Amino acid sequence: MESIDWNSLSNDDLYSIAENLKKEKNCFILAHNYQFVEVQKIADYVGDSLQMAKVATKTDAKMILLCGIKIMAETVKILNPDKKVVMSHFDADCPLANMKSPDDLRALRKKYPDAEVVCYVNSPAALKAESTITCTSANAVKVVSSISKDKQIIFVPDQNIGAWVAYKNNRELIMFDSYCYVHEQITLKEARMMKEEYPDYSLIVHPECALDVCKEADLVCSTSQMIDFVKDNDRVIIGTEIGLYYQLKYRYPEKHLVPLSPKMVCDDMKKTDLRGAVRALAEEKYEIIVTESIKQKARKSLDRMLFFI
Ligand code: 13P
Repeated sequence: MESIDWNSLSNDDLYSIAENLKKEKNCFILAHNYQFVEVQKIADYVGDSLQMAKVATKTDAKMILLCGIKIMAETVKILNPDKKVVMSHFDADCPLANMKSPDDLRALRKKYPDAEVVCYVNSPAALKAESTITCTSANAVKVVSSISKDKQIIFVPDQNIGAWVAYKNNRELIMFDSYCYVHEQITLKEARMMKEEYPDYSLIVHPECALDVCKEADLVCSTSQMIDFVKDNDRVIIGTEIGLYYQLKYRYPEKHLVPLSPKMVCDDMKKTDLRGAVRALAEEKYEIIVTESIKQKARKSLDRMLFFI
């Protein structure tokens, strides 16, 4: 490809380059719900973690570009070992995923050798490889409820989803103390203040919020389940990363939507802009590599989750 002066290109130029490159390279583009709307416009599919993982197993494209964060691209790579999987930004990652190491999980497993290990997908491949089943925000409650009551369960890495799942299933889970800073910062007081300010609005929150905030909400669910809720409801407080609020405002300009807090910004999700995404597609620089042994072990735990659904 001839050299391109990326900074001189308009959004329209970038959309048309993306369209041509997608065909030329036989590339399928996935974008997470938190991505900028401009980035989502070049995607073949926009969704939550579970939907992206499922769709990734169906495409026959030669290459997949993931607009989001590294852990999501790793999941796609593990499910598509023969395809080239490329990231939209070289260091968009998940701080929650990296708070604890596989060694920390191995130590926990040693302490509870008979426990099932449920690993939330916002985790590196090496942590998934140490687990028996993965889950996402869309199915965490169901995955845990499928495990026999007489089994102990280690749930990693997010302690807030863990607390919500434990509460919904009325059982104890062994957990790390990791959390997502975007959701964890929201206090019960803030949630209550928003409900007071918008008394006829529904409050929907992501389960990465603290348990007391989740209990205050009308619905606790994944980002795509939030989109489904907004389709049928006109007044909603959106309790997750701000990108979802912007996507919903774009899709439903006539609805009355407010973000739970403008502070809910994931810096890593915001690293990808339209220019960066199209450039990543053109240059294929940020290829995802997962070692064979980790890939095989992590695949078992991902397949178990996908089969289960
Ligand atoms: P979803 O799977 O609900 O889209 O959540 C992903 C995520 O990163 C939440 O912070």
